[in-house]
Amino acid sequence: MATNVNAEALKESPIPDAIEKHAASKQTVDPYNVQGEVGEDGVVKAIDYNKLIEEFGTKKIDQALLDRLERVTGKKPHRFLRRGIVFSHRDLELILDRYEKGEPFYLYTGRGPSSDSVHVGHTIPFEFTKWLQDTFDVPLVIMMTDDEKYLFSDKRTIEEVEGYCSNNAKDIIAVGFDPNKTFIFSDFQYMGGAFYKNVVRLSKHITLNQARAIFGFNDSTNIGRIHFGSIQGASSWASSFPHIFGEDESKTVAIPCLIPCAIDQDPYFRMTRDVSARLKYKNSNISYAKPALIHSRFLDALQGPGTKMSASIDESAIFMRDTPNQIKNKINKYAFSGGKVTVEEHREKGGDTNVDVAYQYLRFFLEDDEELERIRVAYESGDMLTGDLKAICIKELQTYVAAFQERRAKVDDEAVKLFMTTRPLKWNGNPRAPIVVPQVQKADGEAAAEGGDGKLTKNQLKKLEKQKQIEAKKAQKAKEKEEKDKAVAQP
Ligand code: TRP
Repeated sequence: MATNVNAEALKESPIPDAIEKHAASKQTVDPYNVQGEVGEDGVVKAIDYNKLIEEFGTKKIDQALLDRLERVTGKKPHRFLRRGIVFSHRDLELILDRYEKGEPFYLYTGRGPSSDSVHVGHTIPFEFTKWLQDTFDVPLVIMMTDDEKYLFSDKRTIEEVEGYCSNNAKDIIAVGFDPNKTFIFSDFQYMGGAFYKNVVRLSKHITLNQARAIFGFNDSTNIGRIHFGSIQGASSWASSFPHIFGEDESKTVAIPCLIPCAIDQDPYFRMTRDVSARLKYKNSNISYAKPALIHSRFLDALQGPGTKMSASIDESAIFMRDTPNQIKNKINKYAFSGGKVTVEEHREKGGDTNVDVAYQYLRFFLEDDEELERIRVAYESGDMLTGDLKAICIKELQTYVAAFQERRAKVDDEAVKLFMTTRPLKWNGNPRAPIVVPQVQKADGEAAAEGGDGKLTKNQLKKLEKQKQIEAKKAQKAKEKEEKDKAVAQP
């Protein structure tokens, strides 16, 4: 069955550029195209991520920020951060400020259910999102853009994307998210109410001209595609989720989210940030919180840098359903090698780890920094041959995929139902934060979250007590002053 899905997908989308030669062109990275620059020789170059930081106007995640992240969370940064795989951000500092103070924020990410063929590249942003959830202990919403995948394909039917949606939800759950803190929703199912109001709010503030400039739409683009950005953007506002954050919009509009995503999704949120800054809650001066972002790079196709793994091309990717043998064969047969042509030459000159796919995959999946460094030195010096490097890569990927398959086998329809039910979530935030901001309550009085049961937490009680003392002192002073004034005034 799996092979059929791929055959279908192949019919639908043309073979990507990785395997062909093509005309010289600049690098393109947007939600619908990802390709490195093509030189005069027709060869696709690696994607230049530093250039994207410049073009998009994001910030590089530097060592100082990583140090601060470690200080604030007390946790060693994830290997994706240590190795520049998660490499860029917008306003991550502001999220850390909030975390330090115990002020609320949430995580938002998503997936377009376009096929049942989930590959290792798809799991990267989710792996990282799980780490963020474990680290910050905050709510997470995951949007399944079934509508997007229908609108952006000429062939897919609504029924088809619905099928992908529940299967993809299982794959996402298998990454290991905490059901108490995670809400997964399909656009088709969740649309309406507070969410739809935000979709419309956002769409009212984007002109056709802006949409064209941001996404490259033209006169022949169907209008569903033009509107879709307001749907993906609207989940960046906490007020779209009253069952999690409460009904009081004067409070929820100020709660920001942090969006872990691949860098190609940035245009949606650049647009949303721009509108957030201009939007005010009712006629007050309370602005909508701008979403913060943290961007990851892509996992290269087996064919090498310049393109990303593609779900529709079996030889380009390691799929999460691949057997250990398939993984072995694919790496051995297709993984682009940075090694030299002959053993003699390799021993003499060494291999190029920058382009070697097996080495690059190890940067994504091998946890041990020292081991990775040892491999790099051995390969670049020519001590290690391509075959040995590939063998290490095969073992790591087999372990990674097998662990996923084990968890995936346990995810049933019941689990999907649980994660996708509109319900309150429970989370604790920063255990070391000085202030605990009271959680909101649902309109019917049911607790929306921990501490939202109407009772005050210890910290809140302490704060209240302190406030009382300050007020008592003030009152005492005022009284003294009054008496003094009286005394002076007396004849
Ligand atoms: N458009 C994304 C995709 O095609 C899905 C998505 C929706 C998303 N919201 C998101 C991805 C937020 C990252 C962050 O896969």
